[in-house]
Amino acid sequence: MQGKKIIITGASGGIGKETAEVLAARGAQVTIASRNVRRGEDAKADILKRIPHAHLDVEHCDLASLTSVHAFAQTYREKHGHLYALINNAGVVTVKRESTEDSFEKMLGVNHIGHFYLTTKLLPLLNGEDNARIITLSSGAYKWGAIDFADPHLEAFGIWKGYARSKLANVLFTIELARRLKTSFVNAVSVHPGATSTEIGVNRDTGFGQTIHDVLRPFLKTAREGAQTSIYLASTRELVNGGYYYEGGKRQALKKKALDHALAKELWAWSEMEILRRGFTIEAV
Ligand SMILES: NC(=O)c1ccc[n+]([C@@H]2O[C@H](COP(=O)([O-])OP(=O)(O)OC[C@H]3O[C@@H](n4cnc5c(N)ncnc54)[C@H](OP(=O)(O)O)[C@@H]3O)[C@@H](O)[C@H]2O)c1
Repeated sequence: MQGKKIIITGASGGIGKETAEVLAARGAQVTIASRNVRRGEDAKADILKRIPHAHLDVEHCDLASLTSVHAFAQTYREKHGHLYALINNAGVVTVKRESTEDSFEKMLGVNHIGHFYLTTKLLPLLNGEDNARIITLSSGAYKWGAIDFADPHLEAFGIWKGYARSKLANVLFTIELARRLKTSFVNAVSVHPGATSTEIGVNRDTGFGQTIHDVLRPFLKTAREGAQTSIYLASTRELVNGGYYYEGGKRQALKKKALDHALAKELWAWSEMEILRRGFTIEAV
């Protein structure tokens, strides 16, 4: 991994931070793309205590804002000529219906749309690198997800409904991206990290949701264990383009709904159109 440039979204905590620590320990140059720079800097300082030689940068990137994603990608492209791995790791669960700055329902807006836009912006840098990869964190929850274009902004809100659909979107995005990258040297894969003790779903301001995490902790993987599949996929040369991985690097067959190529294309076209409608440009992939 020596000198490999890697971006990890949401590496200020949880699975992303553990992934950043291990990859930086192996010599990668890791950029922590964080919505909250203070939390990103705290994560960096904590990692440096154990890995003093770690090469870590913290940059602001709020996936709930297309303006912020655009600014982050632009700055990264200006500073760095190439990118080896983009790890689309950040994720949110909201307990009530919330919207992003650009009026997307928040779980779809952050987990899918923000990463969709970021990926298209950074692809030119990945295209220039041998064996580059885009690793997107999904979840086994995708199996319960549905994409309903009649209610794209989830007016009929449900927590599980919203989260599962965003995680199905992550897998559909990956299989359509993999198809588009078939003739390139870039691979796209998705991940189920397994049920892991992190801060997912915990309200950062009020702490709401922490108690249930504390109760469940003994039954869950540690964040380091949950990071193993991302770490493997960032490190191996044996990637299968479009593959869905779990348990530290095993491949799992996707359920039929996630292999619906017509739906994956439709979601891609919808995502692109919604971003363009908001005045942002998308590079052809
Ligand atoms: N934990 C599990 O059991 C589990 C299971 C299956 C899949 N996953 C997936 O694994 C990934 C990592 O989750 P985790 O469990 O590590 O959760 P976590 O501890 O809550 O960490 C999530 C990270 O995403 C960041 N984030 C949230 N909203 C963001 C935004 N608008 N822009 C940029 N970053 C944002 C958070 O930043 P702040 O530090 O600012 O809050 C944090 O760094 C997610 O995609 C999740 O869906 C987790």
